[in-house]
Amino acid sequence: MIEHPAFMAEGWKVCEKHLRFDLLAQTESIFALSNGHIGLRGNFDEGEPHGIPGTYLNSVYELRRLPYAEAAYGYPESSQTVINVTNGKLIRLHVDDEPFDVRYGKLQEHERELDLRAGVLRRSVRWTSPAGRTVKVSSVRMVSLTQRAIVAICYEVEPVDAPARIVIQSELVANEALPDQSNDPRAASIPTSPLESEEHQAQGTFGLLIHHTRLSGLRVGAAMDHHIEGPPDMFVASESYPDLARVTITTRLKPGERLRIVKLIAYGWSSLRSRPAIHDQVVAAISSARLTGWDGLLAEQRAYLDDFWANADVELDGDAQIQQAVRFALFHVLQAGARNERRPIAAKGLTGPGYDGHTFWDTEIYVLPVLTLTQPQAAADALRWRYSIMDMAKDRAAQLGFRGAAFPWRTIAGEECSGYWPASTAAFHINADIAYAVVRYVGATGDTAFEEEVGLPLLVETARLWCSLGYEDAAGKFRIDGVTGPDEYSALADNNVYTNLMARHNLRSAADAVQRHPEAAEALGVNSEEVASWRRAAERMFIPFDERLGVTPQDEAFTEHEVWNFADTRPDQYPLFLHFHYFDIYRKQVIKQADLVLAMQFFSDSFTAEQKARNFAYYEPLTVRDSSLSAAPQAVLAAEVGQLDLAYDYLGEAALMDLEDLEHNTRDGLHIASLAGSWMALVSGFGGLRWQDGALSFTPRLPESIQRLAFHILFKGSRLRVEVKPHEATYRLLGGPPLKMWHHGEEIHLSGDQPVTRHIPGVKAGPRPSQPPGRAPLPRGERRQS
Ligand code: BGC
Repeated sequence: MIEHPAFMAEGWKVCEKHLRFDLLAQTESIFALSNGHIGLRGNFDEGEPHGIPGTYLNSVYELRRLPYAEAAYGYPESSQTVINVTNGKLIRLHVDDEPFDVRYGKLQEHERELDLRAGVLRRSVRWTSPAGRTVKVSSVRMVSLTQRAIVAICYEVEPVDAPARIVIQSELVANEALPDQSNDPRAASIPTSPLESEEHQAQGTFGLLIHHTRLSGLRVGAAMDHHIEGPPDMFVASESYPDLARVTITTRLKPGERLRIVKLIAYGWSSLRSRPAIHDQVVAAISSARLTGWDGLLAEQRAYLDDFWANADVELDGDAQIQQAVRFALFHVLQAGARNERRPIAAKGLTGPGYDGHTFWDTEIYVLPVLTLTQPQAAADALRWRYSIMDMAKDRAAQLGFRGAAFPWRTIAGEECSGYWPASTAAFHINADIAYAVVRYVGATGDTAFEEEVGLPLLVETARLWCSLGYEDAAGKFRIDGVTGPDEYSALADNNVYTNLMARHNLRSAADAVQRHPEAAEALGVNSEEVASWRRAAERMFIPFDERLGVTPQDEAFTEHEVWNFADTRPDQYPLFLHFHYFDIYRKQVIKQADLVLAMQFFSDSFTAEQKARNFAYYEPLTVRDSSLSAAPQAVLAAEVGQLDLAYDYLGEAALMDLEDLEHNTRDGLHIASLAGSWMALVSGFGGLRWQDGALSFTPRLPESIQRLAFHILFKGSRLRVEVKPHEATYRLLGGPPLKMWHHGEEIHLSGDQPVTRHIPGVKAGPRPSQPPGRAPLPRGERRQS
């Protein structure tokens, strides 16, 4: 756990006041900057020491053969792995004869702060070299949200007590050496030296490197230029080699004198464009950033974020740490998606190499619900990316013997990249998850052009998949057998309730969309018989129920299985998948992550209040939360069934997953779904947000420690502010057309600037459910900082 006072609760900032070498890799993830296109880990300017050096470009990957001891039909032959591209953030400093390296000499002061409103990472250091020279060094780093190709760094150095000779080497470095890889399957298999040089150039303050990847054939260009301010007695030189471009600035500084360098870095990549075209692309990007200038870039960044926060901010009274954490979470969710522009949003965003840089269902089910209601353009772009890989998904469905489209469980460029099919290919729910995200996006924005062009084909092809994947049995039930639901500790199960409810929604939504766009549907070859078959399958969808226990089984046979021997499982044997064979895990009642609980959140109307409470009480003692995707939906359902303190504990876990490194793997990158989940826990948990007949409904209720929760949502062209206090909630339109919504079952209408305030009814909860021994969430109340 990150226990140092690094991440002290400050509403709009994440600050580190002391440097801990053992936490370097974690802090690199926490302080990562990204715009969804470029991602930089929070490595030091001087490159060393580092945990994991990281510079990523969305969808730049290398291929890796997937070796199978026993191959079989339909196994993917290769996987894609995110690569560490050319590092442009390197600025090495030499003071007299010593390289600036915080492992040597004395670090007198160290501070880093991620400013969530300015969108920059600031660092300031006061360092005494082993020879006794003291300098102040500061840097401000940004990945521009407005100029997609641009990174900018303002670097300053100043001697404190005596004159010093200063040499700065500002570099572009390709094929950096990377640390040894861990054995954790969630970490990455990063290829070493993945880039082959095509061009290098250096001239004056400018440098450029162009490379391509060996197997995936992607061309990557990086360029840098510098604006330098310092004493007149200054010397600038540059040089380049296949994997290195360097600009060296040499001067002498007296105390009080400063050297200030603004470094602009541009990235471009393509699978098609020629070397000269990539060359010109990065040169043009630099040129346009130069025109804007450092102050202009800062101003643009601030304006972009002001706009985002006006639409998305969550305010909290009573828990300063969660207040900070949820803004940190929103900031990183935005960074992951802001400029993804028809590229995937990876499970780690662009903050680290974990999970090989792959995207999963995390995007549609955790990240897009946040972006759809706060930054809808980014949600549309992520779905457009799904649409762009439709042909591959159709081929995969055909290969598997199905109709329609089967989207990959994990991928970068569209092909299935998992070598373990029971927890990937069999997890067909991803297809309905995509459909679900489409429906929510269209419902929230009314973007009918998107629906016709992108949404409809996605709905139609996934509906086709379900019709060929499931079948009607002799009793007339539509069954989907042998699939894996969200819980990866139960695989190849018959009639997973989450999957079947999602598939039903997918089938109905496809049929409805066809009615709205008959011509576009005809072009996709849809006819009325096909639509009727979707409706029939949806009507007859089998949702099992265990009469004996009075609970909804996660899948048809789940509640008949033996319960996992929790009593004899030691705390150090979690996560279970690192200590037990899947064979053992799959046949027992033990749940990795929310599954039925997630179904109850998304299909709230399909369960009575009493049923939800019974189900929740049944599944809590079986759920071990070996996935970071679990705490948030558990928070949401706990809040709904009146377990407000438990919900608060789960909120703490989702929100602090990375700031406290709860799964000990933040070093590999942030858990973007869990970060999005902290918004979900607050807005859908304590705010009680659900969808009802195309409108939003709220059943707000706060735990005792939170005195006020306010959040903002964009919906159907309106900006809504919801403010919840212990006994009342106030709904206010901050702009846009009138809106109908629900408050605890009462219909309310909002228009103009006339807020509506309603009383919050009390709730009677049953006894607090227990979790498997040692797996209860940390009690939030005791850890709270107000
Ligand atoms: C979870 C999956 C998730 C993946 C990536 C796994 O541990 O079980 O549901 O998609 O991590 O976050």
